[in-house]
Amino acid sequence: MSDTEAVIEVDDLRDALGWRTVVAAYLSMPFDVSRPRSLISPEHAARVADEVRGLPSKFRTFRVSAAGSDSDDMLRWRAAIADATGLVDDENDAELLIRLRKAEGGGWEVLLRLTPRPLATRPWRTERYEGGLNATIAAAVVRATHPSPHDRFVDLMCGSGTLIIERLAVGRPALCVGYDISTDAIAITKTHLRNAAIRGAKVELHNADVLAAEGRFDKLVVNLPWGTSVGSHAENETLYPGALAAGARLAAPDATFCVLTHEIRVFEAALAAQREWSLVDEHRIFQKGHWPRLYVLRP
Ligand SMILES: C[S@@+](CC[C@H](N)C(=O)[O-])C[C@H]1O[C@@H](n2cnc3c(N)ncnc32)[C@H](O)[C@@H]1O
Repeated sequence: MSDTEAVIEVDDLRDALGWRTVVAAYLSMPFDVSRPRSLISPEHAARVADEVRGLPSKFRTFRVSAAGSDSDDMLRWRAAIADATGLVDDENDAELLIRLRKAEGGGWEVLLRLTPRPLATRPWRTERYEGGLNATIAAAVVRATHPSPHDRFVDLMCGSGTLIIERLAVGRPALCVGYDISTDAIAITKTHLRNAAIRGAKVELHNADVLAAEGRFDKLVVNLPWGTSVGSHAENETLYPGALAAGARLAAPDATFCVLTHEIRVFEAALAAQREWSLVDEHRIFQKGHWPRLYVLRP
């Protein structure tokens, strides 16, 4: 098991559908067999079919992800699964993802993804925004702020609104504000907020440079431009110190400021050069080949 995985026992699989900080949830089925070929038996295929019927989502198609999924043995196993479940084997656009891998303690493990799309794919996200944050990571950033109903919450650079929507999803703060210098970003955030339709949610959005923003907030978040697809490394040399100073100007005395970035050297240099914020926690995050970091700061 990799260090980005966790095994959790649940009474009801539907509970897993609400896990906001989980990228994807699978039902794990261990099989005491030494080779995948042994899984082809009708008895094993029937066991998989039973579990598929008990999943909280209904599926019409499946695909198998396994080493050698086009080998003769795998093709026979896929045919056995199609027979037993009545689902269509569709490599291109399948709803049910079935993974097969060696189990840690010996034998083999079949993993059935509980949902047609990963949990990280939120239904409200209809618009593409360059640099839009993965919603699972956004939920983890929000969690690091220790949300409370009294929060005056601000996202200094809200982009497509991911952090704002993930904040609202765990309860309404007293005040919820988003800044972004891009007109497109604000329009997309509005669309996503409408899609998310979170009851009673009121959000103030400012299409403005946050470096000139005013206000008083207890919980501040920002997903800074990484200088790759959004912004540039050169601009970040001045933007990062500016964002820290803007955060300090907007912060209440006991505020928490959560900063996510991939531009580690530039951010750490900016942090070292100022006196308003102290680092209280730091997390490395794995995002498909990138290792952004979350910095938790206090005044
Ligand atoms: C990495 S993106 C944020 C993505 C966002 N978390 C999301 O999920 O879509 C960084 C954002 O910072 C905004 N930005 C850059 N400089 C800014 C400034 N001075 N004031 C406000 N927003 C700024 C950009 O327009 C961009 O939308």
